[in-house]
Amino acid sequence: MNLGFLGTGHIASSVVEGIFKSKLKIKKIYLSPRNKIIAKKLTKRFKKISISKNNQQLIDNSNWIFLSITPKVGHKILKKLKFKKDKKIISFVSTINYKDLKRYTKNKNISRVIPLPFIGIKKGPIVIFSSDKKLKNFFKHLGKVFEVKNEKVSKAFWSTSSFMAPYYNLLFTTSNWLTAKGVKRQEAENYTRELFLALSEDSINKKRLPLNKLVSNSQTPGGTNAFVLGKLKKDKFYKIQMKALNSIFKKF
Ligand SMILES: NC(=O)c1ccc[n+]([C@@H]2O[C@H](COP(=O)([O-])OP(=O)(O)OC[C@H]3O[C@@H](n4cnc5c(N)ncnc54)[C@H](OP(=O)(O)O)[C@@H]3O)[C@@H](O)[C@H]2O)c1
Repeated sequence: MNLGFLGTGHIASSVVEGIFKSKLKIKKIYLSPRNKIIAKKLTKRFKKISISKNNQQLIDNSNWIFLSITPKVGHKILKKLKFKKDKKIISFVSTINYKDLKRYTKNKNISRVIPLPFIGIKKGPIVIFSSDKKLKNFFKHLGKVFEVKNEKVSKAFWSTSSFMAPYYNLLFTTSNWLTAKGVKRQEAENYTRELFLALSEDSINKKRLPLNKLVSNSQTPGGTNAFVLGKLKKDKFYKIQMKALNSIFKKF
């Protein structure tokens, strides 16, 4: 199977990296001539990649076309390109909905997929709307697949993907605070990464426990965790989190 990536930016290069780390059998990957620097780097690393002359050539040579352009570019270029009926279109574009994708490409064989950068290390959730056997079998090599039948639900998942930067900021604040208390910067950062990694791994290992149980099991009444959780709740930290999610949901 030949794959084509329309737009060779951050997410396309992560997906390509994941593909070559996986057991997926790919004949060829075509990249668009933009971004040239990233595309060239990828061709040097992986033999099966070649850079197409233009976007139309990429589409014509590929069985599956991954839309990895920004929404603004998508609105501009998709309607000018021809997607034959036998092409499968997989859109990573956050804010172009199914209806518009269908209208622009004049093709119904479209799925919207949410990959996240860790797909490059074959980790993390991958939401597919709407899914089929082939897509599921492909993406299960690159992370944990969540199949969604309703676009509105897929938008809710999109909203939660906005927690990457806020999550890292939580780590950053924690390590900054440690540094201010006299811990060396590198040690503070290493400690913080280990702490949050262990928490995430522990939550996966305890999959059978609902998340609210993890919250209660991690605190003793009157203890330090209970104190900090209570303080954050009182100061509306989690209400603000919900508000941010509601606001971003409206953008999708
Ligand atoms: N980053 C993420 O974590 C993530 C996760 C899920 C989904 N997405 C979605 O994936 C899409 C891409 O995101 P990104 O973070 O990878 O953005 P990005 O790094 O800015 O990549 C966009 C790519 O599109 C290229 N491009 C611009 N104009 C083009 C054109 N006319 N024809 C072909 N390619 C063109 C850019 O090339 P130049 O650099 O030469 O302009 C760049 O390579 C977005 O719609 C986003 O919503 C991103």
